[in-house]
Amino acid sequence: MKILVFTEKPFAPAAVKAIENTINASGNELELVEGGTRADLLEAVKNAEGLIVRSDKIDGEVMDAAPKLKVIVRAGAGFDNIDLEAATKHGICVMNTPGQNSNAVAELVFGMVVMMCRNMYNGKSGTELKDKSLGIYAFGQVGRNVARIAKGFGMKLEALDKFVPDAVMEGEGVKPVHTPEELFANNFVSLHIPATPETKKSIGYDLMMKMPQGGVLINTARKEVIDEEGLMKALEERPDLRYVSDIKPDAAEEFEQKFASRVFFTPKKMGAQTAEANFNAGVAAAEQVIAYLKDGWNKYQVNK
Ligand code: 3PG
Repeated sequence: MKILVFTEKPFAPAAVKAIENTINASGNELELVEGGTRADLLEAVKNAEGLIVRSDKIDGEVMDAAPKLKVIVRAGAGFDNIDLEAATKHGICVMNTPGQNSNAVAELVFGMVVMMCRNMYNGKSGTELKDKSLGIYAFGQVGRNVARIAKGFGMKLEALDKFVPDAVMEGEGVKPVHTPEELFANNFVSLHIPATPETKKSIGYDLMMKMPQGGVLINTARKEVIDEEGLMKALEERPDLRYVSDIKPDAAEEFEQKFASRVFFTPKKMGAQTAEANFNAGVAAAEQVIAYLKDGWNKYQVNK
């Protein structure tokens, strides 16, 4: 059976090799398309029974072009790029690979925070993370890795997640809070919420204005969760606030013009772009597609 790996942003070469070996060893056939266009996707998907993607947009049109497609695995955590309703209508199982790239994302949080706190390494005196407080918004796989690393920096930790019992957070040495307002009273807030109708544009002016002097908002989640107008207004009124994001906001140029080194955006989403995360998520995705095609294994199905 043909398994198509279609990624706009390529996996590391060692990950591609491992995916290829895994698929070959299962007796299936790999087709790899890296950096392809939408037309390439529509063509390549024609004979595919399994599909592995990253943040690549997979909608009803792609599924219409893929009459044999049975399973899509998003090699990564967020699956807001896949039209789940359309997949269900087409009888296609959609899975993600939870946890496989979470350490990479968590490490980038601190890479960006230290850079911001040391003024982009411009030689001017900066600040430290030790004894500062960090609010973790969503205590899933990434949030827990962020907590683990933050402890090494000597930070005080709080987290907000209505799906995680307080005792779980307390067991990790993290103080649970129950409202976004409480969370935004921390020196740093790191976002790990998915982009859903409920969370879209949910972080804006009011919450930013709750941050203490020198507050830094870190977004390695999705740009859609930010109310950009509200954030901009807060940054205008409070010259002490800063924003770092692993993805450019829609109004990136305006943010950069207005706030210069108080904002930082990666040019492309880089959180999961490490050799290790590519390897883990890519191989897990290959194994999950193979297992589904073989005997319907669907542990991480997200369109039930
Ligand atoms: C995820 O949801 O897993 C991350 O945002 C990584 O996305 P990427 O695979 O497109 O880098």
